[in-house]
Parts: sequence; structure tokens; C-alpha cells
Amino acid sequence: MEFYPWMLARMPELTGIRRDLHRHPELSNREYQTAEYIEQHLDQWGIPHERVGQTGVYAEIRGARGEGRTVALRADIDALPIQEENDVPYRSECPGVMHACGHDMHTASLLAAAQALQAHREDFAGTVRVIFQPAEEVGGGVRAFVEAGKMKGVDRVFGIHSAPDLKLGTVGVKTGSNNASVDCFKVKIHGKASHVSTPQMGADALYAAAQTIVALQALVTRRTSPVDAVLIGVGKLNAGMAYNIVAEEASFEGTTRLFTQELRQQVNGWVTETVKSIAAMYGTEAEIEWEDYGSPLVNPEEICREVRPVVEAMLGADAVITDRALSCCGDNFADFQLEAPGVYAYVGVCSPDTPGSEGPLHNSHYTVDERALPIGAALYAQMAWEWLTDKKN
Ligand code: NI
Repeated sequence: MEFYPWMLARMPELTGIRRDLHRHPELSNREYQTAEYIEQHLDQWGIPHERVGQTGVYAEIRGARGEGRTVALRADIDALPIQEENDVPYRSECPGVMHACGHDMHTASLLAAAQALQAHREDFAGTVRVIFQPAEEVGGGVRAFVEAGKMKGVDRVFGIHSAPDLKLGTVGVKTGSNNASVDCFKVKIHGKASHVSTPQMGADALYAAAQTIVALQALVTRRTSPVDAVLIGVGKLNAGMAYNIVAEEASFEGTTRLFTQELRQQVNGWVTETVKSIAAMYGTEAEIEWEDYGSPLVNPEEICREVRPVVEAMLGADAVITDRALSCCGDNFADFQLEAPGVYAYVGVCSPDTPGSEGPLHNSHYTVDERALPIGAALYAQMAWEWLTDKKN
């Protein structure tokens, strides 16, 4: 079975779904209308589904030929707090909210793939688990599916992301590191206020925070190898009450980005140590809270080898990009890859015909060339098909 021609023949429907989603973007964990929209389509096609958490949707397509392998397909469905500036008829109708990361494309593609696989369920054995994941932009949405048992017994997991850095008609399937881990840290430093003329009577939280923020960068240059990519960024800082008062409180927030779980644990540990020990040095006390937004995204070589020929058969021998640049942005598809072997592929959406498709992501002008929709949709369906009907297994 070849799904790309099937999708090309349904281009108007596919584009219509993407534009509906684009018109009605919803922020992370508030994807209520989006979830309902997905469910209406699944109902229309007779695909059983259930909610996972508040706004996640899980659907299941059972091959009519009996028991077999299990493949999970995942799309993220949330949008961003950005005011759209594209002048298109299907522009966002929600002020200040926009699909500026292509999740409208991912959702539309996965819906179309579910429809196609359901239409062909007489021809395969096994199960396709279809995951519409909310809250990716805030590092959420995965745990609910894992805890609901939806990743149990999965043989392969597959996902796609729109790639403005790749030309339309190409697909990035890169072995090894693709995206960084994302952890967020929030620090509060408690000191003691005093008149600025008597610093010895106080404990300066502002000074401790400033020293800590500077010292964190030394972890990059002095504690880790210069050939490992390590990013520590602090993006928010608050401290003090007035020019002549020793600051009693300071707080700051930042993030770390690493490409292996080992380095992630090590660096995050050093950040905590640095925060605590510098605070103590100046007679203050620090609290640090960590939020896990996603693991490093690593594509295993053996699974990439299963995906590349499928892309080549669909789009031609030059279509596979294997050396796409590393990104310090994260994607918590990586946390699904910790549950089952799988690959995240990057679908090229950039075309000179479509201004904004050259990116960057998370920009008020971002859009995808819609000819990438049947590619994304066919890839989802074809990968499931290949894995389920693979005679070697
Ligand atoms: Ni995204």
C-alpha cells in the first residue's frame, strides 16, 4: 500500500482540517475545542477513542487480520501565546494565540493518517495507537499517556515535526542527538534586610543571586568538556526593594539544555550545588525547584534505517536529510522514545512560494507550505503500515 497518492488525492480535505485548526489555536492544557474537533473526525470515521487527561485524545485502530505488532503515532496539538501577523483567510481567530510551531500541521496529518489506516484495516494485523498530545510547548502531555498504559507493549513509536530549515519535499531523519533536554529551574534566595550603610547587619540576597548567575556560566567552561554542547541560560531575575536597602529576597529562573541523560544529570546537579553553596557563602539561603520539560531527543540508528527507505520510496532518493543541525530547543517526543524504540522525523515545509515557511519557529509570521501536509500524513500512515506488515518480524 502506498499512502502518499492516497493523501494527495485528499488534499482539499487535509488542507481544510489544517486551516480549521489554524483558525482556532489553543494554549497548552486548554486544548478543549481542539480535542473535540479531533474526536468529531474520529467519530465520523468510526475510530474508537478516549480522553487522556483533560485535553489529550487517544485513538486505536485494530487491524482486522488479528493480533500483531503495536505501533504508536504521536502528534502535538497545542499553540503558542503569539499574535499572528500573517494576512491569510484562515488567520488565527483567537487574539494573542497562534499555531506558530506547525502543530496544526502535525494534528491534521495524524488525523488523515488515522482515517487512511482505518480505511485499510482489513489489510493488516496488529494495532495502531494514535496519540494527540496536549501541552508540548510547556513540556507536558506525555506522562498522562504513559500512566494510562498507552505506551505499554509498543514496538515502535513515530512522530513528526515541521522543519522550516528543510526544503519542502525533504525529510530529516538523523541518527543520534537531534534536540536537547529541557529543564527549568526556579531559585529563591532568602537574605536579611538592613540599611545599605550597614551591610554587616544584613544578608544580601541580590548580591548572592548576581554571583550565582555569573558562576553558573563557569560550569559550562570549567566543568564540562569543550567538545560537549552545554547550555545554561538565566532569563528572569527579580531582587530588592529600594536603592538603600540590602535586598532580603531575590529570585531568578533559567533553563539547561543537554544532549545526553548523563550530562543532563551531572550539569543539573552542579547547578543546584552552585546555587546552594554561593547562597551559603553570603549568609543567605537558597531554594531551588526543577521542572522536567523533556529528555534529550535521540534517534537510534537501527530505527532510522527502517524509516529512510520509506521516505526515499515516497519522495525520491535525495529526499532524506541525515545531517540536520542540532537544536537546543527541546521536544518531549523524547519521553515517548524512553518508553519504546522510535524515531522523530523532521518534515521540510520551506518553499519560496510560501513566505513565512522559512521560519523561524515560534514567530508571528511562521507558516508551513501546505504541500507538506500530504507528506506528513503519508509518512505517519506508511511507517505504521511498514512496521505492522514487515515480514521479517
Ligand atoms: Ni513544536
